Amino acid sequence: MNTVIPENFRLCENKFRQLLTSRQFGKTFIFYESVTSTFDAAKNLTLSHGDVVCARVQTGGVGRMGRQWSSEEGGIYFSLILCPDEKNTNFQLLTSACALGVQKALSHYTECKIKWPNDIVSASGKKLCGILTKGYFEGNGKPVFNVGVGINANTTVFDPSLKFAGSLKTELNEWVDENEVLARVLSETEKVIENGNAEKLMEEYSGLCVTLGRTVKIIYPETGKELVGEALKTNIDGSLVIKTETHGTICVNSGEVSVRGIYDESYV
Ligand code: BTN
Repeated sequence: MNTVIPENFRLCENKFRQLLTSRQFGKTFIFYESVTSTFDAAKNLTLSHGDVVCARVQTGGVGRMGRQWSSEEGGIYFSLILCPDEKNTNFQLLTSACALGVQKALSHYTECKIKWPNDIVSASGKKLCGILTKGYFEGNGKPVFNVGVGINANTTVFDPSLKFAGSLKTELNEWVDENEVLARVLSETEKVIENGNAEKLMEEYSGLCVTLGRTVKIIYPETGKELVGEALKTNIDGSLVIKTETHGTICVNSGEVSVRGIYDESYV
């Protein structure tokens, strides 16, 4: 069932441009009514640092660990292109920086935190945003990162299999201006990335990370293997350190594992 969102809250290219205050991020803004995925759409374009490819709807949105990302109207789906300089090419750290930028922007609307590695969750434990980064090399050998961000802004209908999904709309019980949300997200993310100090970034990230201090279950999707342990800290590269019950203290990377709370199969 499609959500009918009042017109003045819906994404509108002109309105978004008027609200955008960032220096560079989103200045090149390519907007589609419908794409399979913004990852696919970006492949056919020549893009530079800070460019954004956005769609009202995705028919084949992809999530982490090979999952689908349900992309009905009401969500904000975009790819942010990052072409970092050589000293700043850590994939996981860049994604953590984006998670921090999104958290700062969404906290303007509702209390929220970061679930490692890069989900934004509301105070009631609902997932408001997911981020998936794909990296590749340009012809000249320079790395490019396509940071795919899906924000549940005005989403009201969720796939029944998603026990922990929520949106700004369901948290606040009112519509949010999708243009304003996106403009804020790009401006905050630009500030975090331009500040560029990994140590400070991860310190701020850790202070907002709900995973730390919790007993979590780590799931290796390829083998189905599960480990239980306490999330101790994040490293400066964005990886997570876990003291397990059976395998000592280990360090996991965002691309390898899925992390869940253990109580009542909770999300955080
Ligand atoms: C997750 O599983 O939590 C990550 C979800 C990432 C979804 C975004 S929406 C824009 C971009 N295009 C996609 O197909 N996926 C990402």
